Amino acid sequence: MKKELQVAIDGPASAGKSTVAKKVASRFQYIYCDTGAMYRTVTLKAMQTNVALDDAAALATMLTDTTIEFKPGTPEQLVFLDGEEVTMAIRQPDVTNNVSTVAAQGTVREDLTNRQREIAAAGGIVMDGRDIGTSVLPDAEVKIFMIASVEERAQRRFKDNAQKGISTPIDVLRQEIETRDHKDSTRAISPLTQAADAVLLDTTSLSIDQVVDKISEIIEQKRREL
Ligand code: DC
Repeated sequence: MKKELQVAIDGPASAGKSTVAKKVASRFQYIYCDTGAMYRTVTLKAMQTNVALDDAAALATMLTDTTIEFKPGTPEQLVFLDGEEVTMAIRQPDVTNNVSTVAAQGTVREDLTNRQREIAAAGGIVMDGRDIGTSVLPDAEVKIFMIASVEERAQRRFKDNAQKGISTPIDVLRQEIETRDHKDSTRAISPLTQAADAVLLDTTSLSIDQVVDKISEIIEQKRREL
């Protein structure tokens, strides 16, 4: 029987990771796990309950009493925080602009990393984020590091936002992406960085389907080898 793999897809904000990861997961009938959504959900709860976003101890306490669940939905997976649906709420600009601060706290990373490893334990999973190949699943059989130019990523986020009814100007988006890249890449714990054994994929001038095909070929190849 073919072994079901762990597929780690990392890269900076708006590089197209989640769109591609969802399609790859569905092609192989793997589970898809959006770890950014988990950091966003924790950020939303901290904001709603007035927990300081840089108070590592208070965030840890909050997490002992927090459930985060993914459930199938159309067109996208639904996210639940303590039983309440927050799929749209976690994409709002105030959460987006605060999430890097929460994601830099070691207690939060430790807690979410444990949850992510449990979700991935049985294999047959595509997980996207910033530190999946380097820290969460260092033994993943397939690791992809997906990048795209800042300009291209700002354009993609702009189009994505328009569909969600969010109208942030493109200059602001470009600035936000650069700021988040900087914070995510320079934080002390598990910064955004390419794993030594990850395949680098620059998607600037590739379509979504081209990227999905490339990753699928890598997965097929790996499955043949194992
Ligand atoms: O992928 P995203 O934009 O939804 O991620 C939101 C933030 O969460 C991102 O700015 C950095 C953080 N994050 C992280 O630190 N580690 C992950 N594995 C995933 C996301």
